[in-house]
Amino acid sequence: MTSHEIRQKFLDFFRSKEHLVVPSAPMVLKNDPTLMFTNSGMAQFKDFFLGNAQPPAPRIADTQKCLRVTGKHNDLEDVGHDTYHHTMFEMLGNWSFGDYFKAEAIAWSWELLTEVYQLPKDRLYATVFEGDPAENLAPDTEALALWKKYLPEERILFGNKKDNFWEMGETGPCGPCSEIHIDLRPDSERAQKPGRDLVNQDNPLVIEIWNNVFMQFERMADKSLRTLPAQHVDTGMGFERLCMAIQGKTSNYDTDVFQPLIQHIAQQAQVRYGQDHKTDVALRVVADHIRAVTFAIADGQLPSNNKAGYVIHRILRRAVRYGYSYLGFREPFMCGLVALLAEQFAEVFPEVSAQQEFITNVVREEEQGFLRTLENGLSLLDEVMQQTPAQGQLAGEAVFKLYDTFGFPADLTALIAKENNFSIDEAGFETAMQAQKDRARNAQSKETDDWVALQTSDAVNFVGYDLLECPTNVLRYRKVTEKKRTLYQLVFDQTPFYAESGGQVGDSGVLMLDAQTAIQIVDTKKENDLIIHLTEREDLPQLLANKGNSGIAKVDVERRRLITANHSATHLMHSALREVLGTHVAQRGQLVNEKALRFDFSHFAKISDEELARIEQIVNQKIRANIPLEERRNVPIQTAVEELKATALFGEKYGDFVRVITFDEAFSRELCGGTHVTHTGQIGFFKIVAESSSSAGVRRIEAITADTAEAHLQAQTELLDALKALLKNPKDLQKAVADLIDDNKRLQKQVEQLALAQVQGLKQSLLEQIEAKGDIQFLAQKVALPSADALKQLAFDLKAKVDNLFAVLAADIDGKPQVAVMIADNLVKEKGLHAGNLVKELAKEIQGGGGGQPFFATAGGKDLGGLDKVVAKAKTLV
Ligand code: ALA
Repeated sequence: MTSHEIRQKFLDFFRSKEHLVVPSAPMVLKNDPTLMFTNSGMAQFKDFFLGNAQPPAPRIADTQKCLRVTGKHNDLEDVGHDTYHHTMFEMLGNWSFGDYFKAEAIAWSWELLTEVYQLPKDRLYATVFEGDPAENLAPDTEALALWKKYLPEERILFGNKKDNFWEMGETGPCGPCSEIHIDLRPDSERAQKPGRDLVNQDNPLVIEIWNNVFMQFERMADKSLRTLPAQHVDTGMGFERLCMAIQGKTSNYDTDVFQPLIQHIAQQAQVRYGQDHKTDVALRVVADHIRAVTFAIADGQLPSNNKAGYVIHRILRRAVRYGYSYLGFREPFMCGLVALLAEQFAEVFPEVSAQQEFITNVVREEEQGFLRTLENGLSLLDEVMQQTPAQGQLAGEAVFKLYDTFGFPADLTALIAKENNFSIDEAGFETAMQAQKDRARNAQSKETDDWVALQTSDAVNFVGYDLLECPTNVLRYRKVTEKKRTLYQLVFDQTPFYAESGGQVGDSGVLMLDAQTAIQIVDTKKENDLIIHLTEREDLPQLLANKGNSGIAKVDVERRRLITANHSATHLMHSALREVLGTHVAQRGQLVNEKALRFDFSHFAKISDEELARIEQIVNQKIRANIPLEERRNVPIQTAVEELKATALFGEKYGDFVRVITFDEAFSRELCGGTHVTHTGQIGFFKIVAESSSSAGVRRIEAITADTAEAHLQAQTELLDALKALLKNPKDLQKAVADLIDDNKRLQKQVEQLALAQVQGLKQSLLEQIEAKGDIQFLAQKVALPSADALKQLAFDLKAKVDNLFAVLAADIDGKPQVAVMIADNLVKEKGLHAGNLVKELAKEIQGGGGGQPFFATAGGKDLGGLDKVVAKAKTLV
């Protein structure tokens, strides 16, 4: 069976058991503060388990793109070194939301594995939860009894909390689980040692393939377990491992999921897979990581320097480093693999082929950047080795810098060091690493208390498209402490507040508990589908206790109006961009707030001034045309995309029903959840204020509208008027300024020439005033000069002309006193004179200080009137 057939049979099987088959959610999560990436099939269904939202069907199945590189489930460091862990993998899953439970789940997993996939029954093992007295959890005898129908008792094992109690993250839905393992060892080995001794023992051939979780609890912030209102099933089967078992392989990488990639890379690198341990690891790392990076970019997450983007950046760099160190790649090589993935997944995950060129370009640019960094890191390492005594230890700080800035893990540095007869200070490296971790932890320490429920209700109603104010009840609240700032989060049963999403910032406003009691809402955010209002009122619990939990929710109307104008303008600009630059322009990110709009989109060249002007012109035309908003809610996604041809974004998780926003169906039609003007005329005016590159292959435009654009123009006009007034209102301002600049240049040249002539003249007269005092040629004079440089130049010129010179120049430099002392080298040597010391003494007369070398020194001061005294004092010195 090919991997395609294996995947299809899974979906067909559960369809036959009345499951709704849904698409994979994006791998990158946007509205879940507890999770950065989808780390298992159930992530997109979290709210269904917790009872915060209703599933579209009681039974669902899918194949989900998962990424396990951060948080509770993190396999990154293992990837490549073993044969069965991945960063990105597909999880096949079936779910019951308060519908079937253990009996059906177990029966169907057995049926699918043994009858559909025909896996040998005698190689299968099941594990069940042994219970945990500390948590008051009983052993799962129910699952045990069910398994006994299919498996002899010696192939059913009890497992502890670590293996058999599955939790999504630090908090969230969880429950006991039953895993299915398969023993893929050859018969001879199986005869020697029973598979049951190897289950969960990290044997690459005795591995878990399927996990059946019986969701019954929610792990709370205080670590306690809350029993969920209903019982659910959440299963996950590792697709790549399943393929290995069915295809009779001993490594995930030997299946048709990975072989095309591995063969391609091996050919490029001119190595053979299976010949050398190190190159094999590198081939696996590259084959695995390009999938993670490609799918992340396809889902809208570009590599960057923070948060989810940084994780992708690191994965990409890990692969490039392995390619560089073990496969000899010196030029970008990963970008060439995107095309293979696009083809391989064209049917299941068409988002890759749809964006193939873009992804390829982004990966190529990232690779180029990192290859340069690697070269720089290697030369830094060379330097560090040169500065280290032979056979010594490379400093921990340096090893850390190589790791942190250049992406060299300590073991790579150690390896190169060893090749050059050095070792590394591992303890020092660990200390530096720990210090950085502590800094990061302090920077993001956040504590979230559990919810305090005041009232229960399923329905949380958003009315903010139509109303800016409505009566409401506070359903629950909780305290959040972040970087020492305390906030309360509130959930209302009905709210006009728009929660930050799709790049539009959250609303602010007030909750009026009574006519006098206003709770300021500073921001509104989403957690999955829940709308959360934030307040800084620390007395919130008391207020709610005293005043009750009903009130009026009021949005800050003025702020909302400005945000809305910017959002609608973004839609107009998006269409204008496609008109002017081409239809390859796709939104890659946006920020819309009350001040401005910022729009990131795929495009590979700088946008010219003419193009920008044209974009502004189109948008302003559409504003003046005062196009009415056409808003359609609850449109089936299929209709919206296929019939209405609305623009959808990659990586956005759309529900079955969507909102379609149109401003002239021939011009702009997008799927959008944001707020919009009722007529484009309300945007007033649109002005682009900046154009830049935001990351590889992505440009960024910042623009302003409405009141802000008007204020901007007003300020510009005032500035122009002020300039005109300064120049006495010339007819042609531009010409007047150009003339002024020309004049200034000409005058500056003249001044320089005059200054030169002046210094030459001065030098001549000074030479005439030199007196011989014994064997010293002495000069002490007051002079006026245009600059400190001129004074220095003069002193050196005199020294060059006169032997045995001892000169003190007391200069008036544009109204500031300065003293220079110049002494001939032989006088310094023979008489032990020191210009630096002398100048300090002389500077006292001008209330200043200075210093310098024995033969030349200068000092500045405050008292111009003291220059005569400097000259007098100089004479006494001699
Ligand atoms: N959510 C379960 C897992 O990831 C099925 O193993």
